[in-house]
Parts: sequence; structure tokens; C-alpha cells
Amino acid sequence: MVQWQSLIYFGLLGISSLVHAQYRNSTQVGSSNCPGYRIIEIQNQGDSIHSKLSLRDQPCNQYGKDVKDIVLDVSYDNSRLRVKISDAEHKHWEVPANLWTPDINYRSKISINQLLEFSYVQNPFSFSVKRKNTGEVIFDTAGHRLVFEDQYLELSSTLPDDANIYGLGEVVDTFRRNPTNTTQTMWARDAADPVRENVYGIHPFYIELRGGKAHGVQILNSYGMDVFLANQSITYKAIGGVLDFSFYPGPDAYEVINQYTATVGRPHQIAYWSLGFHQCKYGYVDIDEVESVVRNYSLAKIPLETMWTDIDYMDMFKDFTLDPINYPLDRVQKFISKLHQDNQKYVVIIDPAIGRNESYPAWIEGVEQDVFIKNPDGSIYIGQVWPGYTAFPDWFASNTDSWWTTQIARFMKDVPVDGLWIDMNEPSSFCTGSCGSNRTGIPPYPWLDPNYKPDIPQTFPEPPYAIHNAYGNLSVKTVSTDALHQNGLTEYQVHNLYGHMEAIATRKSLLSIEPKKRPFVLGRSTFSGSGAYEGHWTGDNWSTWELLKYSISGVLSFQMFGIPYVGADICGFNGNTTEELCLRWIQLGSLYPFSRNHNGKGSIGQELYLWESVAEASRKALYTRYELLPYMYTLFQHAHEIGYPVWRPLPFEFPNDSEMLNNDVQFLVGPGILVSPVLAEGATSVDVQIPEGKWYDFYSWESVSGPTKQTVSAPLNGRIPLHLRGGHIITTQEPSITLTQSRKNPFGLLVALDEMDSAKGDLYLDDGESLQVGKEYSSIFYRATSRGINSNGYFGYQSNGMLKNITILGLKKQPSKVVVNGRLLSTSQFSYDTDKATFIITQLNISMDKSFNVAF
Ligand code: NOJ
Repeated sequence: MVQWQSLIYFGLLGISSLVHAQYRNSTQVGSSNCPGYRIIEIQNQGDSIHSKLSLRDQPCNQYGKDVKDIVLDVSYDNSRLRVKISDAEHKHWEVPANLWTPDINYRSKISINQLLEFSYVQNPFSFSVKRKNTGEVIFDTAGHRLVFEDQYLELSSTLPDDANIYGLGEVVDTFRRNPTNTTQTMWARDAADPVRENVYGIHPFYIELRGGKAHGVQILNSYGMDVFLANQSITYKAIGGVLDFSFYPGPDAYEVINQYTATVGRPHQIAYWSLGFHQCKYGYVDIDEVESVVRNYSLAKIPLETMWTDIDYMDMFKDFTLDPINYPLDRVQKFISKLHQDNQKYVVIIDPAIGRNESYPAWIEGVEQDVFIKNPDGSIYIGQVWPGYTAFPDWFASNTDSWWTTQIARFMKDVPVDGLWIDMNEPSSFCTGSCGSNRTGIPPYPWLDPNYKPDIPQTFPEPPYAIHNAYGNLSVKTVSTDALHQNGLTEYQVHNLYGHMEAIATRKSLLSIEPKKRPFVLGRSTFSGSGAYEGHWTGDNWSTWELLKYSISGVLSFQMFGIPYVGADICGFNGNTTEELCLRWIQLGSLYPFSRNHNGKGSIGQELYLWESVAEASRKALYTRYELLPYMYTLFQHAHEIGYPVWRPLPFEFPNDSEMLNNDVQFLVGPGILVSPVLAEGATSVDVQIPEGKWYDFYSWESVSGPTKQTVSAPLNGRIPLHLRGGHIITTQEPSITLTQSRKNPFGLLVALDEMDSAKGDLYLDDGESLQVGKEYSSIFYRATSRGINSNGYFGYQSNGMLKNITILGLKKQPSKVVVNGRLLSTSQFSYDTDKATFIITQLNISMDKSFNVAF
């Protein structure tokens, strides 16, 4: 059954494809008939260049008017080489720097100007970027004409044959992008996860792997844009703004992400509780149903850390209200108190669109404080979202942040939620263009209204170059491109920033309410740098095996984009799941950085307790997740400090292994755990590619040496295949039903020795919720050899944790004694398995808050 929500997309696609056909330009390469530019003046200052360029010949006026005079600015900073091409008069809008929080403390080990060299050709102008040490050219515009027009910018660079390009999102696609036929359109769009079309977020950033090394390229521009990979080239075609490129030298993919997130903003520090399991559904009819879901999780002994409600809790779908009949205030308050007593959390959805309603405070105060986006004639722009006719907060307007904070604070005073889920912020609106300013009442949804006629904006026609927005006209299902922001900007210019700016405002609001706690914000439409403010879920996926598989590349791409806290809707959102699909999905989804089951309205229930087989698989999977959380939380801390991803793509980890370059059906959690999920219906085993090095089956501890292939049994009543990587130490903790409890449990160390009999690992500990931890954290390093294991580091946080077990895999010789901090252990506390070369030490009582030494 295709549920009604999905009909929006099909319905509107029908309308838009008509419009689209007139505009679509399908070439994936550059414009050879344009004159290009030549340098007429150049000023060098150290490594910086400022240069004037002029059109070489008669304008080609391909999609508007060529700009005669442009300027080139080249500079190096701590994390990048920046090459910016703008109009000499600076009339073209640029994304303001205050939307980012760059890491100003970042210093590349070798400064970027020692790593990358910029060169140019004067006439016709072209530029290239090469690695200084090897001379390898990583970006080269020679042979491609630069086009700089009022509403059309074009730049191409040559790529190697069959280039290994990753990134350019948001998209549902393979992790490695097709280098011969990719069209990635940058126009934020509410669309239910169609494959290879533009969807919610905007990340014009890619990493290329070449000869085992990696570099990254980013363009900063908020206008609509196409990025093409074809004919051994990458081509950017933007409908305005400037060409602001950043080049990141790596030399490996993680260093690229480190440099990229130093520029656009480090991922925010997450709260520990947010790593627990989350449950949601669109369509929980009342608080009784929500309570019964929480109760059923508890009865089924499946961990549930956070319960969510969708727009169902609202009064007529208006933000900051409660449905007085189905979600009455006193019941909701009692529900939250009980959740909090039980150490569980509560998150609710809000949408940016504010219902037009003269007795609704958010509307009244919004009008008074002049916070809404306007029509070209100055009246409030009216669209349509769940509450009916709505206005849209203008995040550029001077009063919007304080108005937003007031609404959130007032709501949270009554309804003390633990986090906010910001949806529909492309922004989504159901009319095509404005619904008309004078409309009142509650209209039917357009896709249910036989008389609905789209109102294409008149004052700002489609630009001459039509990007490949899959809805065609840019104003379909969103705010019209001619709508105005307070600073005079049009939606055409800043559409792609809407969700990012809402995230900034929402985080700020939560911080002003609870200044000391890490805010929880999950958003749908993201932009480069959003990870500093929010996490992300991959939107309205489908309950299909295909979308289960694509969820891996989705999560991996967001690791690159600096938003490591990400997950897909477990068991699928649109359509009906099946018992088997849901079981396989929780096995994989239990390892998503953000692990939430969410379901569409009208779809059959998919809470994990509904089938005994799924319940059993969920208990196993989620308890394994909880056991691994000290390790995962440490990975999140690394992401926060240096951008390194929590999930690691095999091509990034093994860039010299050509077999890994396309592998997006397996991945690593951190550097040490290989995950090989079942992704096909009826499968009971997985063909696993084991990368180079020594690995151990996570459950049987049997070792295997890579590179090799293995078929690993994975029956429905089994577990997701996992392998531990030799050379790594994983800190575990005994799991409990909530993380508050789990965090008090004993720790364990899982030591996987490599071929050289050594392993190392680390652990980050803090209270898991304070925004400023100051000195109250611990950063511990573990080292192991065949003769023992020790820890040291900085111990500033009193966890009161105890290390109970140490398991050493790959220990070739049986030890005869064990000495812990100079004290001999009783022989009953350790045992050796000769067949598996595994040594287990138990009943330890070692403080996690001090260094230790265990010798054997
Ligand atoms: C669209 C969101 O993507 C989905 O997760 C949510 O359930 C619906 N909006 C209803 O709020």
C-alpha cells in the first residue's frame, strides 16, 4: 500500500514535470562556445593573490548576461587553499561567514601552502591546484571555459578516467558516485528519498581517492546548482552567487574531513543519552498509545531510551500547542515525569511553518515582531503546511531568533521535552509558490483538491538555466523564489540555507533555556557545516530492501559532511515493512550513530516488540550496541575534536585496495569493528570482504587474515556479522535497559592483537551532558602486547567505573601468571583457550579513573 503521505510526492511530480520540460538543459559538460576570461592585472602578496580578469571576447550571454569584469582571490588558511572568483562590483551575493563556526585552533601539521600549490594560465584564464611534494594535479580548469553571468556561473575541472569520487549530497545513491554520469542538483527539496535526485540537504563537497591518497574540494554557494560528473570532468553550474572553492590536501580521507570540518565547523558534542535507542511514529493517535508503546518496550525488555511524538501531539498541527483531547497537558506532563523517573527521554517534532490563526500566540507575536518571510509587495508570504495556511520564519530578520526562543521556552515550561526535531525545513510548503496572501480557513491538501492550480511566481521567473531540480520549477513544494527576506534577499538566493539557519536558531534557543546542557536538535534540511548545530536523519525512506542498503551510503556520506550523528528510519518510513525486513533493519540500525525506528502514518505498526523474532533480534542487537557505547562515544568525541568519522567507509580505510573502492555494503564502526549486514530478503549468510590484516569474529573469536573473502552464516535468529580488527582495543560496558543504568555498570576491555602481537585503543569519559566539561573529562590510552596491557592518560573525570574483564584475542602463548598493579592474581581469575589463542581475565576490580598495569 502506498500511504497517503507519499501521494504528495507523486502528485506534485506530475505538475512539475510539465513545467520542467521547457527548461531542462541536459548537457553534463561545460560551454565551449563562451569566450572565457583573461587576467589583466595581478597582485601577489606572499601566498595570496588578488587578480583582475576581463572577458576575452564578445559575450556569449548563454543564460543571461556575461559579467565583463571579475576578480580572483587566492589565499591559504589553517585548513585549506581558498580560490574565489567573484564579480568585480561585488553585487553577487555571498554566504555570510557568521553561519559557520570554524575551528580557529586547528593547525595543520604541515601548513597548507607547503602541501598545495596554486597555478594559473593568464589567457584564456585557467587555474590548477597540485600537490607540492608529488606534483600531482588534483584540480585543473584548463581546456574548460569559465562562464560568469548574472544568473549563471560555470566552471569545470578535468578528472582522471574512472575517478573515485565520494560525496556531493544529499542523495540516495551508491557511496562512490558514478564518474561518467552523475547529475547532483543542489536545491533543498522535500522528496521521499527517490534514488539519484536532489533531496533535503546541500553538501557540494567531495573527496577524491587517487593512488591511495585523498583530497577534498568544496564549493560554498547557496544558490541552486548542478554538479555533473561526466566526460572525465566535474562541472559546476550555479544560478548565481560566486565561485568560492576550498581545497583540502588530506593526504588521507580522514585528514580531509578534519580540514573540512575545521573550516565549516566541528560536529557538536552529543549527549550520551542520545546514543540510546529511539522510537517514533507519525500517527500515534493519543497519549494512551504513546504510553502503551513505552510500556510494551519495557515488558519486552527491549532498551528504549527516548520516546518521540510526531505532529499528532499538536492542536491542529500548530507548533508549541497540545491537542487538548488526545494529548491533554496534564496527561502529557505525567507521561514526561514518569519517563524522566525511569531515566528515559522525550523528543517532539516542530515545523518552521506557523499556522495563520488570529488566536495563536506564535502567529500573533510573529506578526507583531515582523519575523515572517514577505511577498514582493511587503505582505506576509503565505504557504501551506500541516496546520493549513502558514507563514515562514525569516531567519535573517532581526527579531526572529528571540521570537523563536520565546515560543520554545514557553512551550518547554509546560512540556519539558529533552530535544527538538526540526522537520519540513527545506522549507516544505504544499502550494507551488505562494498560496495567496488573502486566504484564510483550512484548505484541503493540494494533492487531494481537484481544483488546485499551482501559482508559479510571476515577479521572479525561472532562471534561464534550469538546474535539474526533480520537481522542475524551483518554487514547487517550497517557498516561492521571489519571496523576500528582511535584508532584501530573495528566497532564490538563500533557499538552501533555510534548514541550516533554523538549526542555528533552535540550538541557540535550547541553550538559552538550559545553558549548561548539550542541546539535542535533529534536522532534515542541512547545509555544509550544519553538524555544529544538529544531527540528521535521512528523511522519508521506504520499507524496502533497496532503501535498507542505501541507508549505509547515506550514513557514510554524512560522516564526510561533518554530521556524524545520523541514521535512517529503522524498518522504513513509507509503506509497510515486513517481519524479516524489520529484523534485518534493526540488526543494521542498532549500529547507526543515531538509532531510531520511525514509521509513516497509515503504515502497519513496526515497534520492535510486535514480532517475537524481531524482539529477540532487537534485544541482542541493542544490547550489543549498548555494550559498545563507551567506544562509540569516544568516536563521537574524536569527531567533535578533529572531525574523524564514527562510521568509516572501507574505501577511506583501505584506499590502496581496489576491491574496496566500491564497497558500500560493509563499513567500519571506528577503526576497529567491521560490520557486514544482511541486506537481501531470504539471505541467511553474507559474503564478507575481509580487508588486509588480522581480524576476529566478534562472537566466536576465531581469527582470519585478510585480504580474503568469507561467507559468514547469518541466520534470522543469529546476529549481524561483526569482526574485530587486530591492533585495536575496544572498551565495553555491561548493558542495561537504560543508559543511566548502563553507565554505572562494569567495563571490559576487548583486546584484538595484530600480527605483531600489539594493540592500542583509547577511551573518552565525561558526564555525558555538560556543555562545558572544563577539566572534568578523562582521556585514556590503552596499549597491549603479548606480555601485558597498561593504561595512562589524563584522568579528570570521576566515573567511579570499574574494569572487570579483559579479553585478549590472538595471544599465542599461555601466560602462567597475571600481575595487576604489582599484585599477583589468583589462577582462578584467568583462563586460556589454546584453540582460539584467547586469554580471559575476570573478576578484576581496577578503577577506570587511574592508570593501571596488567602484566602476564
Ligand atoms: C515529514 C518527515 O520527514 C516525517 O519524518 C514526519 O513523520 C512527517 N513529516 C510528519 O510530520
